[in-house]
Amino acid sequence: MTAQTLLRRATGLSVSKTVAERAVHQRMERTGHTDSETYLQALTPAEMTQLIELVVVPESWLFRDPQAFYATVELVRERWARGRRTHILSIPCAGGEEPYSLAMALRDGGVSAQAVSIDAYDLSPGCIERAQAGVYGRNAFRAQDVAFRERYFTHVADDAYRIMDALRQQVSFKQGNLLQFDTASYSHHYDVIFCRNLLIYFDKPTTRAAIEKLSALLADDGMLLAGYAEVPAFCQNGFTPLQHRQAFALKKDDAPAAIPAASVPQRTLRSVPVTARPIPVATPAPAAPPRSRPVPVPAAATPVDLLAEARLLADRGQLREAGEKCHAHLARTPEAAEAYFMLGIINELAGKMDLADDYWRRCIYLQPDHYDALCHLALLAERNGNSTAAATLKARAARVYQRRQAT
Ligand SMILES: C[S@@+](CC[C@H](N)C(=O)[O-])C[C@H]1O[C@@H](n2cnc3c(N)ncnc32)[C@H](O)[C@@H]1O
Repeated sequence: MTAQTLLRRATGLSVSKTVAERAVHQRMERTGHTDSETYLQALTPAEMTQLIELVVVPESWLFRDPQAFYATVELVRERWARGRRTHILSIPCAGGEEPYSLAMALRDGGVSAQAVSIDAYDLSPGCIERAQAGVYGRNAFRAQDVAFRERYFTHVADDAYRIMDALRQQVSFKQGNLLQFDTASYSHHYDVIFCRNLLIYFDKPTTRAAIEKLSALLADDGMLLAGYAEVPAFCQNGFTPLQHRQAFALKKDDAPAAIPAASVPQRTLRSVPVTARPIPVATPAPAAPPRSRPVPVPAAATPVDLLAEARLLADRGQLREAGEKCHAHLARTPEAAEAYFMLGIINELAGKMDLADDYWRRCIYLQPDHYDALCHLALLAERNGNSTAAATLKARAARVYQRRQAT
């Protein structure tokens, strides 16, 4: 079996051939193997775990898409007022950023720790170890407002802050693969499940299998919080969106709504057209016409400026700062395909091709007709020797281009 098949089967992730082979070579170097076939044949469970660590994308930060946490606080409050505890699951939890954000939001909302239980799982043992340690650097503090750092963290080193023990103890972390959950052995259902930014790495059959597991784990009147781009996949597989703006909350089809939407505090959004210009880079075909699709942005924010600033910084070679601007933009406008496109470019410039690939995929997930992202993905696939994928992406880009020429 090839490394790619092996990793896809073990994780469910759509791991590319290049990524799989690179991971194998890295591990071969570490373990002193010289032949990949021998290495793969002698693969122990422990070594497989090391291999998996090299292909997961543990990208997360504190208070990412914060409305999901506020919607949950309201639900917990309302249930607690009726004497009911709320069981919450965060999967995947990456390095703990998501369940800790929830624990902070609950505390900020004056909710008793007794009112909830929080379980958090991730496939990666490295992530779980980091989560249990609860120490974070600047990447974790990308949210617009990081005042929570003063309240809940201790500065322990140059760029390291540790979360307070009371919050650390509130979350039960475990390593686990969602696709292998034995749902039949669960004695209780979860009232709230966070499953954000996982399905985007799965193909369609794996997405369906994952949603089946989540559905079995969620109580019939429970609430599921998805990543923005994942809402359609849930809707195609037995879920209905709840009206909590920017929380990306769903319930099971035909289930009673978990909480009244009106009770959730929401940020005011308005729609304005954005015609962001991509960073100048070599593309294999004529540049796409400017986008005209409206993108919702927060009223108080200046997202166009953030992206313009990011572009300027990237042009000057200040890639880290440019990336931070994009993330700040995404914290306000999670569905901004253009920001993901730019993050792809920034990572390409930094030589981080896997991340570039990941960001461009997110971009076309959100905006399937993003011409430049399709072209960049096609080029990358070509460079990686994946000519079938390259041809499909090029054909898709060509169709977009033709459509735009015709209008
Ligand atoms: C991009 S992070 C998302 C973290 C967090 N939910 C968020 O939205 O910020 C994706 C995580 O999924 C984990 N993962 C990948 N496949 C998984 C699986 N089959 N079961 C559980 N976790 C998985 C990876 O280890 C990684 O930490």
